[in-house]
Amino acid sequence: MNNLGADGRWPDGFADGSVDGDDAVAPPTAFRDRAVASDAGIYEAFATEGPDAWRRAADLLDWERPPETVLDDGDPPFYEWFPDGRLNASANCVDRHLDDRRNQLAIRWFGKRGERRSYTYLDLHREVNALAAGLRERGVEEGDVVTLYLPMIPELSIAMLACARIGAPHNVVFAGLSAEALATRLDAADSAYLITCDGYYRREDAFNQKSKADNARLRMDGDLDATVVVDRLGDALDVPLGDDEHEYAALVDAHDGEVVEPVARDATDLLFVMYTSGTTGRPKGVEHATGGYLAHVAWTTRNVLDVRPDDTYWCAADIGWITGHSYGVYGPLSLGTTTVLYEGSPDYPDRDRVWDLIERNAVSVFYTSPTAIRSFMKWGAEYPDAHDLSSIRLLGTVGESITPKAWRWYREHVGGGDAPIVDTWWQTETGAIALATLPGIAPMKPGKVGPPLPGIDARVVDEDGEPVAPGEPGYLTIGSPWPGMLRGLREGDERYRREYWVEADDGWRYRTGDGATVDEDGYVTILGRVDDVINVRAHRFNTAELESAIVGADGVTEAAVVGDDDGQIVAYVTTRGDVDPDGTLRAAIAERLAESVGDVARPDRVVFTPELPKTRSGKIMRRLLEDIARGEEFGDVSALRNPEVVGEIESAVRSE
Ligand code: WTA
Repeated sequence: MNNLGADGRWPDGFADGSVDGDDAVAPPTAFRDRAVASDAGIYEAFATEGPDAWRRAADLLDWERPPETVLDDGDPPFYEWFPDGRLNASANCVDRHLDDRRNQLAIRWFGKRGERRSYTYLDLHREVNALAAGLRERGVEEGDVVTLYLPMIPELSIAMLACARIGAPHNVVFAGLSAEALATRLDAADSAYLITCDGYYRREDAFNQKSKADNARLRMDGDLDATVVVDRLGDALDVPLGDDEHEYAALVDAHDGEVVEPVARDATDLLFVMYTSGTTGRPKGVEHATGGYLAHVAWTTRNVLDVRPDDTYWCAADIGWITGHSYGVYGPLSLGTTTVLYEGSPDYPDRDRVWDLIERNAVSVFYTSPTAIRSFMKWGAEYPDAHDLSSIRLLGTVGESITPKAWRWYREHVGGGDAPIVDTWWQTETGAIALATLPGIAPMKPGKVGPPLPGIDARVVDEDGEPVAPGEPGYLTIGSPWPGMLRGLREGDERYRREYWVEADDGWRYRTGDGATVDEDGYVTILGRVDDVINVRAHRFNTAELESAIVGADGVTEAAVVGDDDGQIVAYVTTRGDVDPDGTLRAAIAERLAESVGDVARPDRVVFTPELPKTRSGKIMRRLLEDIARGEEFGDVSALRNPEVVGEIESAVRSE
């Protein structure tokens, strides 16, 4: 049961789509008529069947041994989905499509320099097998964690699938993270294998990725048994390879044509680990199990994003983060669709690059972030308007709240005025979409993510765990398990329990870390994180992680980091009395962040201030700093120990 709608039931009207808030926008009839999910009875079915309803999702996959049990919840909050089932994720994303569509394109890749490469499912099968054989030959065994440190090139998807094929969990580290961040993740995941590349292009320049990887190897506590290096840059960059380093193409060539039997994995076996920021300084290793994750991802790709095999689908997120894992690789490939993979940035060589790619590929479903949409808006409607985007059937967003204005712009200029927009809420930990309006069933409300999906027991509650009234802010929690959920943390059971779960009278409750409100129709509005996580530029950071890096710069005494409306990172910094807060220090701070986290963490603004605003108990008032950065009104500051600094900070921000 959930609290969305009176008495935990969906309000009358919801089921037949007659939700009537004046903010509701009905999906076009033509879309509804052929949507994958068009029967509102799905909500009722999940409500009556309980966890067993998720068998639908498992049925979308091929199983080596089909599961008899759907959920083992005997030891909460350690839940096991499809525990007696066995399957292989790579076989599900590749092999099973060979009969029907081996010559269909699986991946269409577009490189930064205008290069193109396409892989049919047959090509994908061949290369995944060759790499899997090569990895085995290099010593990788079932259960060994392989770390992937690659930009958006097809070898990244292929490497994930090759790992999955031999039962070696992958640990993808976003290519823009630093050597230090890579070293930490290699050690934390006990990973002795690395797949990286010589480098990649950043706009015009060839950037050396291998030297970052080398640097990480020097820093790490453990050591690497083997490294595979993709030659992305050809003659533009030559990197010397050591004895235990192997060129990707040579390895794949040596094993070309070999077939590696996919290893049947227990559904509960680890498919991958993904490090992400949590409520404390160090990133946590979120572990995803094979069966539940893949089932939930496949089900939502079909039912929420409405993707089918004959679509050309593009998820613009980087594979280095969860959205790229679930909806750039596993979702589309498990369904046998054609997916676009784009290495470059949206404004290179010109600001119409995204629209050009949609037109060129006749993309029918496009999934991106509000951050990207804000940039598109800033650049202007003339860019999308100059392209034929009529292939678009559905648009999606993820990562932060989208404003109704941006929602409308997206629909008008990209969606031809009437494409449904699904605003999807989920997290690294949920593995797959958990809240979204099912586009063929219910009306959308711009700015609201919508109701929880069928089978997701989301509740917005107060401090005591009681459901809040419509419109009242509360904490977004999930009251019972779902298949895509993390199976645990690399840091151990205790940490997992402490980080995410509370035991309530009626069972265990997962804490999302997000604040939210819910309206009379059961539609949820996400208010943002209530913990120390910030989402900026489609990346997720922990403020403590960034702040401790800043404090590492010589002369800095304290720091507080917030995100602003434009997805910028703003750092408020105090310095030692004898230090000049000047450009040199600014540069040093940016350098510290780049070194410890990665270039993605370079601050957009550094605001020097004599003090940080603190409560009487000494806690930094980050909310207030966020409001100031955003130029928003803020409330009463009399509860501060040092209210007088607020004016100084405001003028420092204004004089930026
Ligand atoms: C935020 C990304 C508003 C939220 C898939 C969540 C959103 C965090 C939405 C997870 C949305 C995600 N509307 N906020 N539609 N989707 N978020 O782990 O704060 O990188 O907790 O996963 O992003 O970020 P993560």
